[in-house]
Amino acid sequence: MTFETSREAYDAFMGRNADLLAPRLIAFAGVQPGDHVVDVGCGPGSLTEPLADLAGPEHVAAIDPSESFAAANAERVPGADVRVGAAESLPWPADSFDVALAQLVVNFMSDADAGIAEMRRVVRPGGVVAACTWDYSGGMTMLRTFWDAALSLDPEAPDEVRTMLYNDPDVLRELWLRAELEAVENDALVVEASYRDFDDYWEPFTGGVGPAGAYTSSLDPDHRAALREECRRRLGDPDGAFMLSATAWAVRGRVS
Ligand SMILES: C[S@@+](CC[C@H](N)C(=O)[O-])C[C@H]1O[C@@H](n2cnc3c(N)ncnc32)[C@H](O)[C@@H]1O
Repeated sequence: MTFETSREAYDAFMGRNADLLAPRLIAFAGVQPGDHVVDVGCGPGSLTEPLADLAGPEHVAAIDPSESFAAANAERVPGADVRVGAAESLPWPADSFDVALAQLVVNFMSDADAGIAEMRRVVRPGGVVAACTWDYSGGMTMLRTFWDAALSLDPEAPDEVRTMLYNDPDVLRELWLRAELEAVENDALVVEASYRDFDDYWEPFTGGVGPAGAYTSSLDPDHRAALREECRRRLGDPDGAFMLSATAWAVRGRVS
């Protein structure tokens, strides 16, 4: 389990992008003040926190199979209903929410069709189910740079563009249509995260978070050092602070 980790390790690795992405997904889904909202696969709360700011924490529920992430989120967003559990079996009755969101989660569900069907079940008729996933093919620069570097040293490296099923707008749209959601629409959400220096980019990969972190942890010290240098070279050997853009594919649909 590469998500049984601390909020700090997650934030350094992915949270800096997820925090920026959350307001974009909230706007894309059309969440309104006072809406009842559920954040599925909430992690340590990058999306839950701004949802609570907008809708009120008592209107926000969140769930994640990682006990450490759920605990961190409950601490981050007092008053929200934070549970431990999976998308495929949500613990809320039908029609509980106006909006269900899953930010950077669909690819990690063991059964995405079942997960989206559950999100649809807990949303009232006329409500919205929305999600986003990274553009692993190129738009998510932090990960693309890492996997291109990894592949140059190890052709068998588990590049997420290959291992993640829901990595383009058409596949997400198909998933939403299979769940019988209506008025399905796609968009690209683009954010730009800042890095103090190269180490601020590299060190979080060594924390073991997510597939890239798990891969880094699996390498012997020499191979890890070679990967580090290849990432540095591909980033243009940065001297000081830099920014990297990250594109996510978003999809939304309405419950009939
Ligand atoms: C990349 S993180 C995204 C976390 C958070 N949504 C964010 O935007 O920062 C992926 C999350 O999906 C969770 N996850 C994995 N399998 C899941 C499942 N079957 N149902 C719901 N969440 C799951 C992980 O525990 C992890 O917190």
